[in-house]
Amino acid sequence: MKDDLLSNDSANPHLEQLLGARAAGSATRRQILQAGLGSAALAFFGLPAQAAGGGGSAIGFRPIAAATDDAVRVPEGYTLQLLYAWGDPISLGPAFRGDASNSAPEQAEQAGMHHDGMQFFPFVNDGRPSSTHGLLCINHEYTDEGLLHVGGTAAWSHAKTLKSQNAHGISVIEVQLRGGGSELRWQIVRPSAYARRITARTPMRIDGPAAGAVDMRTRDDRRGNVVFGTLANCAMGLTPWGTYLSCEENFNGYFNASGTPTAAQRRYGIREGGSGLRWHEHDSRFDVASEPNEANRFGWVVEVDPWQPGRPPVKHTALGRFKHEGATVTLASDGRVVVYMGDDEAFEYIYKYVSRDRFIAGSSATSGRWLEVGTLYVARFEADGRGQWVALQHGQNNLNEANGFAGQAEVLIRARQAADLVGATKMDRPEWIAVQPQSGEVYCTLTNNRQRVTADAANPRADNAFGHIIRWREDAGDAAAGRFSWDIFVLCGDSQHSDANKRGNIRGDSFGSPDGLFFDRAGRLWIQTDVPGRLMNHGDYQRIGNNQMLVADVASGEIRRFLTGPSGCEITGLTATPDSCNLFVNVQHPGEVPGARSDPARPLAVSGWPANQFAEVTGGRPRSATLVIRRRDGGVVGT
Ligand code: FEO
Ligand code: CA
Ligand code: CA
Ligand code: CA
Repeated sequence: MKDDLLSNDSANPHLEQLLGARAAGSATRRQILQAGLGSAALAFFGLPAQAAGGGGSAIGFRPIAAATDDAVRVPEGYTLQLLYAWGDPISLGPAFRGDASNSAPEQAEQAGMHHDGMQFFPFVNDGRPSSTHGLLCINHEYTDEGLLHVGGTAAWSHAKTLKSQNAHGISVIEVQLRGGGSELRWQIVRPSAYARRITARTPMRIDGPAAGAVDMRTRDDRRGNVVFGTLANCAMGLTPWGTYLSCEENFNGYFNASGTPTAAQRRYGIREGGSGLRWHEHDSRFDVASEPNEANRFGWVVEVDPWQPGRPPVKHTALGRFKHEGATVTLASDGRVVVYMGDDEAFEYIYKYVSRDRFIAGSSATSGRWLEVGTLYVARFEADGRGQWVALQHGQNNLNEANGFAGQAEVLIRARQAADLVGATKMDRPEWIAVQPQSGEVYCTLTNNRQRVTADAANPRADNAFGHIIRWREDAGDAAAGRFSWDIFVLCGDSQHSDANKRGNIRGDSFGSPDGLFFDRAGRLWIQTDVPGRLMNHGDYQRIGNNQMLVADVASGEIRRFLTGPSGCEITGLTATPDSCNLFVNVQHPGEVPGARSDPARPLAVSGWPANQFAEVTGGRPRSATLVIRRRDGGVVGT
């Protein structure tokens, strides 16, 4: 679901692998956390972290050609395994039925639709994080209602609304590499005490400055600090205390605002009919006329502790409300927690959050308020290659009552309008952000923006069809710095395009609409693409092929194509085991029809994936799924 209407008219992988670790005992966990922080601190001070596998950051595989076929392709010498597709049970739950006849309660115990951001959390054996056993947290961003129900959206009902809500949210599954030789396979551990679905109906807590604010109170929650559910969960983040951050992106489309929307609602794209979903017909929370404040309770970053299935998720209002793409966590020189975040819409902004308190190695998930108390900033990119983080703090930078902000709660609930007021730089759709583990440089995908008429230094192409990747280096290498230097890592494009503006400057394989972004432990940059369906293999994109994943050597600038996806899909979400030998990758919405729901009478009209590629899947509809990629010789993926 991508909103085309314009509403702005105005870790260190070593840290990642170690700090996400679970230990059987708290002492072991503490040791792991301390080990991880040491390495993280090295990286943030600009010193090289220890390279994994001794391989450095070089790319070692033969790139593959662009492809338009209905399959996933990877380079020679690699294996693909299908792990977790829409409808698969998370534990001993109900099996998927290929005619979409699973009920709403069954869907709540199965994989949701449209897999997106994802994170591997290793178990710890003898003090070492495992690369063969862990938990996977996976976002389910949205649904294709044509595929989700028998008969699609015909005879729309309460039961269909419930099933749709249960197909959203997050999965937590336990996974393990089992067997040997040719039988070596990742499996979902069933039953698992950790297996969990968080849906658009799961109760969760709200904390931070906007919790309890008048604008957060509803008929069902007069205190304004408990909300049912999370939705539009796009990309993610990993905290140093070992929890998962899931980000609410296109939440506006779920709400129906009849009549004249307020300026704040317009600024967030809340309007009559939403994006065409019909939840409001059976759940008055999504009818703005009935419950005007419910939409203020979405558009946040949600924290989940995958190791504590009984602990409710928390929405952290200190990180601001916008269409959150991801939440990439790193540590400042003094140990404060820094979170980089994009707001993915044309002409929206890049944000940074800095905690008040320092993270102390060994701290547990419940021992600090790092995401509850801190300062939100927004980026201003200056034409001379410098930039500034401007605080969105009530009482500073004209954020006061005279300008429509009565307090910090309003600044955070209407963060877009606060950012407008302080002169933030309008970007070409900020998507994922990743921190280079050796240099601490920060990379951000700007996926595309065909609505841009006037180029500026940081968004240097009008009619930006292919997007670009921008990067910045914080002053003194300190993630909490107030100023930074920036440049453009790559202008994406088609190397043979007749229009010089659309050729880009890629050293290597052509691609466009960069979205997912991930640094592996050795510092290779993995790039995933999200070319919109209406453009894929057409017009400017006719030689680019299906959505894909590439690998960049950021030192040399070389980029090679590693994976191509099936028809109509997006490739989004990736995470690796600590040894970098297993890469988990998501294929989202295979067979998506541009601008419409799939026809339930012809579910395989565009794609028959994954059943057409994996013998163990029989029949059924096209399904988003998690894949595992390994090298045949068991080595580090990408080398
Ligand atoms: Fe959900 Fe901006 O991608
Ligand atoms: Ca995305
Ligand atoms: Ca995208
Ligand atoms: Ca998308």
